[in-house]
Amino acid sequence: MGPIILLLLVAGVATGQPFPPPSPACDIPAIYNFGDSNSDTGGIAAAFYPPGPPFGETFFKRPVGRGSDGRLIIDFIAEKLGLPYLSAYLDSIKANYTHGANFATGGATIRRVNESWFYKGVSPFSLDIQVAQFNQFKDRTTFLYNQSKDESQRSNLPKPDDFMKAIYTIDIGQNDLAYVFRTMGVEASRAAIPDIIDQFAASIRQLYGKGARAFWIHNTGPIGCLPVVSAKVVKPPPGYLDEIGCVNGQNAIANEFNEKLRAEVVRLRSNLPKAILTYVDMYSAKYQLISDAKNLGFKERFTICCGYHDQNEDVYCGNNGKFNGTEVFAGACNDPTKVISWDGVHYSEAANKWITSQVTYGLVSDPPLSIIEICQENMDINKLSRV
Ligand SMILES: *[C@@H]1O[C@H](CO)[C@@H](O)[C@H](O)[C@H]1NC(C)=O
Ligand SMILES: *[C@@H]1O[C@H](CO)[C@@H](O)[C@H](O)[C@H]1NC(C)=O
Ligand SMILES: *[C@@H]1O[C@H](CO)[C@@H](O)[C@H](O)[C@H]1NC(C)=O
Ligand SMILES: *[C@@H]1O[C@H](CO)[C@@H](O)[C@H](O)[C@H]1NC(C)=O
Repeated sequence: MGPIILLLLVAGVATGQPFPPPSPACDIPAIYNFGDSNSDTGGIAAAFYPPGPPFGETFFKRPVGRGSDGRLIIDFIAEKLGLPYLSAYLDSIKANYTHGANFATGGATIRRVNESWFYKGVSPFSLDIQVAQFNQFKDRTTFLYNQSKDESQRSNLPKPDDFMKAIYTIDIGQNDLAYVFRTMGVEASRAAIPDIIDQFAASIRQLYGKGARAFWIHNTGPIGCLPVVSAKVVKPPPGYLDEIGCVNGQNAIANEFNEKLRAEVVRLRSNLPKAILTYVDMYSAKYQLISDAKNLGFKERFTICCGYHDQNEDVYCGNNGKFNGTEVFAGACNDPTKVISWDGVHYSEAANKWITSQVTYGLVSDPPLSIIEICQENMDINKLSRV
């Protein structure tokens, strides 16, 4: 039982009621999302070069700035909450922010790193910048909402009252680890983790200061299981791979990051008394999917649907290039619904759907609440009025 539930019981006793009075279900009115390509719904594509076909082919039937053949976990979360898919903050075309906004950009890190989009594909919109963008978004939309004279003038703006009722979802950290692997080597990268976590916490505190209350924090996935990583492994020494074929060293760093993140979430709970912080163990959900691939209806666990990769060469999904001596176009496999990895780095829509089913019901989160229940928690703790 998490501390939040405990708090409710105490409150109930204080008012002379054994349990909080039953109340009708409430709805989360908006999602504000921060992160990297795991949850980017078009940000980096709007800012730089959009990915071409076959991205998006399964669900949207065209490329829509998502790193997958279809929906991402954040899209399935929006569906589960009964909300529209999130417009990217950076997208100036037909964006609609009535139910939130997405600040995530592919390639984003928590810390500012000394690389660029043009060198290694690192997003300039690191988490601190995403939070600065949110601050600007909140101030400007609130101003415009107040200025508006009728419904038509605010038809794509969020209601100012909803910022406190919204859920703030965050999925970031994987690219910080990739950066330290590149620049320091896997072994030395452990030393960078405390600073990465400190900067993550600073962003949470900033959002809290701006009125954010319900935080839904994804930890980082098993990056040593990404098929682009395993494609580089030839003749691994004993112990280099784990029993399912993932790179031990990289997963160990991901686990270390996750342990420190989890401890930080516990600290933030005591520092931010009105925050509702859920720590979501994406790592275990993704690892389970990869381990159990066949039983869960997928093909070989490291099959890549789109792209060619081996020890020496990479032709990334949607690109032309030379592979094994011939010119190739990296197009999609026949049935993306049967692969876990869409392009070697990003998960397929089918995988995202399965992962969402695991992570949104409280099966792998702390506290073990379904994402639907967060709304009630927030109303109770922050004494918010109904939507
Ligand atoms: C980037 O470079 C500056 C100056 O050398 C250094 O202080 C900083 O720690 C570097 N940042 C990262 C994330 O490596
Ligand atoms: C917007 O209007 C509300 C209600 O009239 C008011 O409480 C709030 O301070 C206003 N905010 C801004 C930024 O003008
Ligand atoms: C934005 O979305 C909301 C809810 O989905 C809808 O009611 C509204 O009409 C949309 N606004 C525009 C300008 O399309
Ligand atoms: C690479 O090309 C050679 C010659 O065409 C072929 O025999 C071999 O099977 C190819 N290897 C892979 C991994 O496709």
